[in-house]
Amino acid sequence: MNTSSSSLTQAQKAIQAARSIVIFTGAGMSAESGVPTFRDAMTGLWARFPAEALATYDAYIRDPELVWGWYEWRRSKILGTMPHAGHCAIAEFSQRHESAVLVTQNVDNLHERAGSADVLHLHGSLFAPRCIDCSQPGAFSDEHPQEPEGGRRIAPPRCKSCNGLLRPGVVWFGESLPQKEWQHAKVAAEKCDLMICIGTSGLVYPAAGLPATAVRNGATLIQINPDETPLNAIAHFNLHGSARNVLPKLLRNR
Ligand code: OAD
Repeated sequence: MNTSSSSLTQAQKAIQAARSIVIFTGAGMSAESGVPTFRDAMTGLWARFPAEALATYDAYIRDPELVWGWYEWRRSKILGTMPHAGHCAIAEFSQRHESAVLVTQNVDNLHERAGSADVLHLHGSLFAPRCIDCSQPGAFSDEHPQEPEGGRRIAPPRCKSCNGLLRPGVVWFGESLPQKEWQHAKVAAEKCDLMICIGTSGLVYPAAGLPATAVRNGATLIQINPDETPLNAIAHFNLHGSARNVLPKLLRNR
C-alpha cells in the first residue's frame, strides 16, 4: 500500500472525531473479489460488452433473452466470489457505529454477504428482479447459475402476479435512481461530518455528486483509490491504495 502512514494516521483521527459518517462505494470496492469494474481498460465490463447494447430498457425490450442471459452471467460470477477484508472491515465498523450510512453504486451483494445491513443500492441490485409490467418483486431460487463467459440467451422468468417478464433489478442507463434510496443517501451526504469514498471513478451522476455534496456541507472527505479521480481535487485525504489493503487499517478499532 503506497499510502503514507502519516496520512493514514491523520485520516484515522478524523474518523475517530466524526459523529456522522457516510461510506460510499463503487465498483473498485468489489474488484479484489474478482468482480469486473466498468471502466478499467480491457478488464472492465464495458470494455468487452457495450453497455448501450445491454444495460438499457430498449435493449431488454428488443431482446429480453440476450439481456436477461447477460445479467444472469454477471449474477453467477458474483455468486462465485467472496467479500474481501475491506467488505468485512466496513461491516464490523458499521456494527460499532450504528449511525453510519453505507451507500453503494454496486449491484452485487458483497456488502450484505460481509454482514452489512441496510445497504443503500443507488443503482439497484442484481439480486432484486422485478416484473417489467407491474413491478412486483421476483425471486431467484437458491441454486447458483453456472453461466458461460459473457452469458447465453435465457428466457426471463414470468411474474407470479401478472405473468409479465421479470427484468433485472438494476438501474439502466437513462433510468432514474430509486427515489427512497436516493433521498436517504442525499440527506445523509448533506448531514454527515465525514465521508469515506472507496473505489469509484466519480463519473456517473447523480451518485458521483454525493462526495461534493458532503464537502460543500462541511464534511471531511477520505478517498481510497489506487488511481487519480476527479475526487482527488476535493478530498482531504487521498489514500492511494486498494480497498482490501487500506480499509482494515483505516477502520481497525475506530
Ligand atoms: P468504475 O469502473 O467507473 O470505477 C472504478 C474505480 O475503482 C476506478 O477509479 C478504479 O481506479 C478504482 N479501483 C479499481 N480497483 C480498485 C481497488 N482494488 N480498490 C479501490 N479502488 C479500485 O466504477 P464506478 O465508479 O462504480 O452505473 O461506476 C459508477 C457507475 O458507472 C456504475 O455504478 C455503473 C456504471 O455505469 C450503473 O450501472 C447505473
